[in-house]
Amino acid sequence: MNRLRNRLREWHLLKRASAPYVRDASVGPLLVLPGVLDPVATRVGEWLAQEMARVVKPDERWVDMGCGTGVVGLAMASAGADVICADIDQRCVANASANAALHRTPLTAVHSNLYSDVPEPNALHGVVYNAPFWPGATRSPNGGLRPFGTAMYAGPHFEAIRRYRVESDRLGVPRVLLALSEDGPDHAGAMSAFGPLLVVRRGRVGRERVVLLEATSA
Ligand SMILES: C[S@@+](CC[C@H](N)C(=O)[O-])C[C@H]1O[C@@H](n2cnc3c(N)ncnc32)[C@H](O)[C@@H]1O
Repeated sequence: MNRLRNRLREWHLLKRASAPYVRDASVGPLLVLPGVLDPVATRVGEWLAQEMARVVKPDERWVDMGCGTGVVGLAMASAGADVICADIDQRCVANASANAALHRTPLTAVHSNLYSDVPEPNALHGVVYNAPFWPGATRSPNGGLRPFGTAMYAGPHFEAIRRYRVESDRLGVPRVLLALSEDGPDHAGAMSAFGPLLVVRRGRVGRERVVLLEATSA
């Protein structure tokens, strides 16, 4: 059933992806560029944005890892945090910058493979990632990138989530948060790839169950 729901959602996302549009979100109007995930349609991002506005404190330095449209970063910056939006997909970097300009909200958007181009990663208060959580390769067997490949697919063994945890721990980032849908195809696998954790908050968006997790030491 979950698999069918995910397939339908994928089809819905692809259908929407051909032209830019503006969407009503909790942060206000949000531009969604072609190829970038719509955080309201996919649900976790919109929920996470509202949660993170309560988590961050003014002047703290946070990364919105895998920023997409920048919805989470915008919410944190609006709450007074100093925010870096990072994404491996250049379209997302452009989208987050455009939304920051639209909202006249200062933030820094960088093209980065996890922390590769995040400025001063040792000086962060925290990082949050609405990570890809579907098990599977980002590329199809013929080698081409699948539609929304890096946005949705975490690798066959959730490598994207494992790497995020390992690199955050290596840099000693004080707070390392991860958002997931509890209705994902293999939620237990995604959680276990993250390692020792505590549940910060559980929520529901429509029928979907969502959760915000924080890394703890073993
Ligand atoms: C599930 S989407 C979340 C998008 C947005 N944060 C939201 O909540 O709507 C995951 C995002 O992570 C990005 N991503 C995937 N691998 C990445 C990596 N190694 N480094 C940085 N960003 C990455 C994808 O391009 C995508 O924008």
